[in-house]
Amino acid sequence: MDTGCVRMPPTAGVEANQDWMLAKYRQKAYKMCMAENVKNTIGRLRTDIRRHDYLYYVLNQPEISDQQYDKLFAELKALEQANPQFITPDSPTQRVSERPIEGFAAVRHAVAMLSMDNTYNADELRAFDERVAKGLGSRNYDYVVELKIDGLAISLRYEKGVLITAATRGDGKVGDDVTANVRTIKAIPLRLMGDVPDVLEVRGEVYMPTKSFVQLNKVRIDAEEQAFANPRNAAAGSLKLLDPKITASRNLSFFAYATGEVSQTLAGNHYQSLQWFKKLGLPVNPDIKEAKDINEVIDICNSWGEKRHKLEYQIDGMVIKVNRFDQRDILGATGRAPRWCISYKFAAEQAETVVESIDVQVGKSGILTPVANLTAVLLAGTTVKRASLHNFDELNRLDVREGDTVVIEKAGEIIPQVIEVKKEARPAGTIQFKIPSQCPNCGGDVKKDQDGVYIRCLNTNCFGQLKERLKYFAGRGQMDIENLGDALIEQLVETGLVENFADIYKLTKDQLAGLERMAEKSAANVIQAIEKSKTRPLWRFIAGLGIRHIGGQSAQILAEHFGSLEAIMAAEEEELRAVEQIGPTMAKSIYEYFRDEKKREVIEGLLAAGVKPAQPKIKRGGKLAGKIIVVTGSLETMTRQQAEQTIRQAGGKVSSSISNKTDFLLAGGEPGSKLDKAKKLGVKVIDEKQFLEMV
Ligand code: IVH
Repeated sequence: MDTGCVRMPPTAGVEANQDWMLAKYRQKAYKMCMAENVKNTIGRLRTDIRRHDYLYYVLNQPEISDQQYDKLFAELKALEQANPQFITPDSPTQRVSERPIEGFAAVRHAVAMLSMDNTYNADELRAFDERVAKGLGSRNYDYVVELKIDGLAISLRYEKGVLITAATRGDGKVGDDVTANVRTIKAIPLRLMGDVPDVLEVRGEVYMPTKSFVQLNKVRIDAEEQAFANPRNAAAGSLKLLDPKITASRNLSFFAYATGEVSQTLAGNHYQSLQWFKKLGLPVNPDIKEAKDINEVIDICNSWGEKRHKLEYQIDGMVIKVNRFDQRDILGATGRAPRWCISYKFAAEQAETVVESIDVQVGKSGILTPVANLTAVLLAGTTVKRASLHNFDELNRLDVREGDTVVIEKAGEIIPQVIEVKKEARPAGTIQFKIPSQCPNCGGDVKKDQDGVYIRCLNTNCFGQLKERLKYFAGRGQMDIENLGDALIEQLVETGLVENFADIYKLTKDQLAGLERMAEKSAANVIQAIEKSKTRPLWRFIAGLGIRHIGGQSAQILAEHFGSLEAIMAAEEEELRAVEQIGPTMAKSIYEYFRDEKKREVIEGLLAAGVKPAQPKIKRGGKLAGKIIVVTGSLETMTRQQAEQTIRQAGGKVSSSISNKTDFLLAGGEPGSKLDKAKKLGVKVIDEKQFLEMV
């Protein structure tokens, strides 16, 4: 390949007394030129990736497949890994920080983030329009109508096109610095494109698409964690996590809809500024419309009443904004909200239907949940046939009976629930639902939890529970055993082939092929999927066990903290409690789980069957936990990058510059100015040997 570089001299052939100076010079030039080539390639890959992000997130017109995109990304990552000196914070590879953050610093907004007044019907919208007309002294103005996304307002500060800070609204004047978490949102560019102003604050909504919200809640409910009431809470909760890696897994997205501080604006009105945002690479909602007057505004609002359920995210209303900035200035704001803007809130949609029967389901930890089977009814875009009644206290409070006419509503617009019983429509002869005194699945004893409202089946051998536990274990967020679906699991339990997790790994192709609806080929697929799941990461394995109060997130924390299954199993309750974000209830639950003889046997069975939960890379609480270390100069036994990786693995933090927060400077040969600075600041300097001893 022609690199365009000075040709490297054949070192072996250079005579010692020949002009070795020239040879050395050539070597150096060659290396520099190669480095320059690598740098250029890295630059080109970054530009390409940013362009594809733009095509995907802003224009909604991707030109390449996900696989092709992943390939570009992997190429960049590999080049950066081999040449870490070229890594910059705005590289697309630098979204997720390896280490958890300490907390959220306060950020004062350069321009306050106000809230909005609400309207609920056309009359109130007209009254708003009258106030605008009066304030401007004419009817010569127009509006922009936007979707009111059910998420969380965020302010992004770009300086010279680079994302510097991301902050929540907070009280409007001071918010929380959530930069590390916001950087993980792929729709938010880390660097803007084209002609960028020196300072640009972009405001917009961080939101969680409906699919991800439903999936997240499912996982949380399975782990007996509190479900999020709506996508807004889910988005807010996800931005307030201390581990950006978990935020990265939450699949958040973003739409830009306003500016804060700008050093120079290129737009006279809001609509133009949104077009300008798009040019800079910021995603803007595609359903934003200009409206010439309030009648058009009302028509647009009405048109979304039904259509909104087809969106991939939730909206709770519309936002109406006066378009021209000079007119906004004239209208000004009250203390709380601008006078040029108003929200139009949709009423929560409800439907009436009949409870045909009430079922009791048993969950994986034995919780009994009453569920209403309903006469099918259309609600907020979907046909609803079942609604959870949550628990027996709730069922009693509402006094829901078979045969009742009930009002249902979607919680967070998504999960159907019964909110009211039409007592006046109750047919004669209905009877109050009796709380089961036995498990409807196995007939075992049931008991109400000491501390809560749940009723549980106490039989640890309950088939119903076992089925649910196995479904969860094999589920997508856990061991992810493709092809081992719910129906097959039910058969495996009913035929007695599987009595615990370990039995899954003892299944043979012939046993599976002998089951109903299973052929040779599908049996082989299942065996293959089971085999593949043996090397899932440790955290998925821990999550799969279904330990009470331990979902995917806490499993990740445990796996990273302890580093091995053995260490987690051996941990004392106090040790568990000392882990950040692992509360006393969780600690007790984990401790007790691993002290149960039967559960240990199953785990041993899993390990004996070849399940090898893979080790996570990062060890929290390692030998260098909490230490900030700078590396300089050339090392003898490792590259700088390897040293940095070792530091991270031992729980330390690598910094590129010396400050009085630095704990050590690891200095190799020819350390340069960093050594001088370390000495000046009294930072401890260690050599390679000392470093190796430390780790
Ligand atoms: S504009 C001064 N536009 O609604 C108003 N807000 O209830 C600046 N929201 O805090 C906000 N979609 O979190 C605006 N298209 C949109 C919006 C939107 C959702 C949220 C935002 C704000 C809240 C006010």
